[in-house]
Amino acid sequence: MNRVLICGSNGLVGQRLALVFGYQSNCEVLNTSHHRNFVLDHHLFDYTQLDITNRSDVKSLVGSFRPDVIINAAAMANVDQCEREREAAWHVNVTGVGHLVEVARRIGAKLIHISTDYVFDGKSGPYREGDRVNPLGYYGKSKLAGENVITVGDVRHAIIRTILIYGSGINVKNNFALWVINNLRAGRTIQCATDQRCSPTFVGDVAGAVVRIIERDAEGLFHVSGSDLVNRFEFAMKTATIFDLDRSLIHPCLSAALMQQAQRPLVTGFVLAHAHEALSFVPMNTEDGLYQMRREMDHVTLN
Ligand SMILES: NC(=O)c1ccc[n+]([C@@H]2O[C@H](COP(=O)([O-])OP(=O)(O)OC[C@H]3O[C@@H](n4cnc5c(N)ncnc54)[C@H](OP(=O)(O)O)[C@@H]3O)[C@@H](O)[C@H]2O)c1
Repeated sequence: MNRVLICGSNGLVGQRLALVFGYQSNCEVLNTSHHRNFVLDHHLFDYTQLDITNRSDVKSLVGSFRPDVIINAAAMANVDQCEREREAAWHVNVTGVGHLVEVARRIGAKLIHISTDYVFDGKSGPYREGDRVNPLGYYGKSKLAGENVITVGDVRHAIIRTILIYGSGINVKNNFALWVINNLRAGRTIQCATDQRCSPTFVGDVAGAVVRIIERDAEGLFHVSGSDLVNRFEFAMKTATIFDLDRSLIHPCLSAALMQQAQRPLVTGFVLAHAHEALSFVPMNTEDGLYQMRREMDHVTLN
């Protein structure tokens, strides 16, 4: 029986992990996030409040639950917010991760952490795990610092870097696909950059990689993403097609026109060979992922 502690269970990835591990009979799961209530309010799920920036709370909860595995899906993940609120971003994305490293090391637990393609500068994607990092914005800088805290922390670990996660959930923040859907449903026009290219990743594939890491007791750094490279405009157009929405509301533009606060890496994408070999990871392409998202949204009332 694996005792699994999930941090950030109210988020997009965290909810998916809660659902996936909640149905695994060989796991005892404790979900946590920094709000008092869990969005998946059901007796199937054990939940307790945990702010990973609070060192003593992390120590006492982990000391009593004694997980074999800690999965960290908690983060300040809004790129522009991180640019504006740097201290808060550092607190969650670096200091909080440090607390998890400290407790995991103490009890011999394995730490599985989610990171991002924004550790790269986007000049020479698609990237392999060993490629040179060079984050452009504060989000990427803080996420890279969080990775470093883990790799030097003398703790058993796996780090998954992933890209532009999309999917549905209860009260999840607007991921790019949801933002497109919500705007088009409201009849609003949107501008999407043609010069930002990446490999969007269906949330279920991120959770699947975590499951494989636990099953195979894999360690180290893994690049995990969707299988195709698309620009934001193309991704928005595919989303509109699959959700039967008005494609004429989507206008192409260049990133500069969006006046975003944080600079983004323009072309990322990952070489997935390592995840494929070590985890047998086979991701969805954007079309399949978006169809899956639609099926899930049609069957459950989410967002
Ligand atoms: N979304 C993407 O496109 C993307 C791409 C690449 C990598 N990632 C990485 O994937 C991971 C999960 O991202 P996501 O999209 O699921 O983000 P998300 O939906 O924003 O979820 C993050 C969760 O962490 C919680 N949280 C924030 N501060 C916390 C704290 N101090 N203690 C405990 N919980 C805290 C948040 O709660 P509140 O909602 O209440 O703040 C939220 O529920 C992150 O590490 C992110 O960097 C995301």
